[in-house]
Amino acid sequence: MVQVRPRRLRTTPAMRRLVREIEVRPSQLVLPMFVAEHGADISSMPGVRRHDLDGLKRAAESAVAAGVGGLMLFGVPEDDDKDNFGSQGWAEDGILQRGLSAVREAVGDETVVMADTCLDEFTTHGHCGFVLEDGRVDNDATVVAYTEMALAQAAAGAHVVAPSGMMDGQVAAIRAGLDGAGFEDVSILAYAAKYASSFYGPFREAVTSTLQGDRKTYQQDPANRREGVREAALDLNEGADMVMVKPAGYYLDVLADVAAIADVPVAAYQVSGEHAMIEAAAERGWIERRRAVEESVTAIVRAGADIVLTYWAEEMAGWLK
Ligand code: PBG
Repeated sequence: MVQVRPRRLRTTPAMRRLVREIEVRPSQLVLPMFVAEHGADISSMPGVRRHDLDGLKRAAESAVAAGVGGLMLFGVPEDDDKDNFGSQGWAEDGILQRGLSAVREAVGDETVVMADTCLDEFTTHGHCGFVLEDGRVDNDATVVAYTEMALAQAAAGAHVVAPSGMMDGQVAAIRAGLDGAGFEDVSILAYAAKYASSFYGPFREAVTSTLQGDRKTYQQDPANRREGVREAALDLNEGADMVMVKPAGYYLDVLADVAAIADVPVAAYQVSGEHAMIEAAAERGWIERRRAVEESVTAIVRAGADIVLTYWAEEMAGWLK
């Protein structure tokens, strides 16, 4: 028998380039951004900031110049602006709406401006919806609030709204609301398979939120793969234009499964904890930062993501140029 030698195709950089199966494009990278009344660094997320409105505009321009495909905005209200319902989430002058307008003013249609449609940043208790007296999160009342929120975001200039609260029926309700108000062209990127993950830890610092209890009654159990596909199929059925899997790196099986059934673009969110782990290990000299960043994003695209949300979007777009 002749020795089979796959190594022949790895002999030189040129050969490896020739046979490379996938390549990450800057235009498929989306940069998550935080907007607040006052700018600040986020200690658990090196290189990531909460921007004030002026800082946000400058940062958006810089990311667009680097070639990123989109921006995903999160609003961080002052503590005084939080309440039980998260009403600043849909207020016309809420911080996220002002951030969306500012970004559209700065970059127009040069990139795709997305908004996280969820209440956890805006509620005192940190849950993604209305909490009943017995502690349960009220699905159907919350979905009504999400629809209001999506309308406020669309009015402020979002090209895409991204419901991330994992309430049942949220995509259908938001679609009907948008269409009814003349926003037929605003897209929905559904956080379809979203797991109750420890890797959102640094995000809580980023949005100055403390969570009472946990979210296991609405976010998914990390043990469930088939259920991730079911969630994506439901969102597709409700009219999602794109579906997302989150977190990304530890859920590549779910991502591959969702990519196999979806007839729309599939996104994956490399979340704050995935970012923080690589940054922390690199800071200690335990891994090579740039290689680890590139490898982690490449793996997500290889598994089936058409779009990757990553806090390294701008930096990586720069490397890829
Ligand atoms: C919900 C939302 C969260 C993230 C994105 N959208 C927080 C959560 O569900 O706990 C997490 C992103 C990250 O960790 O980077 N508003």
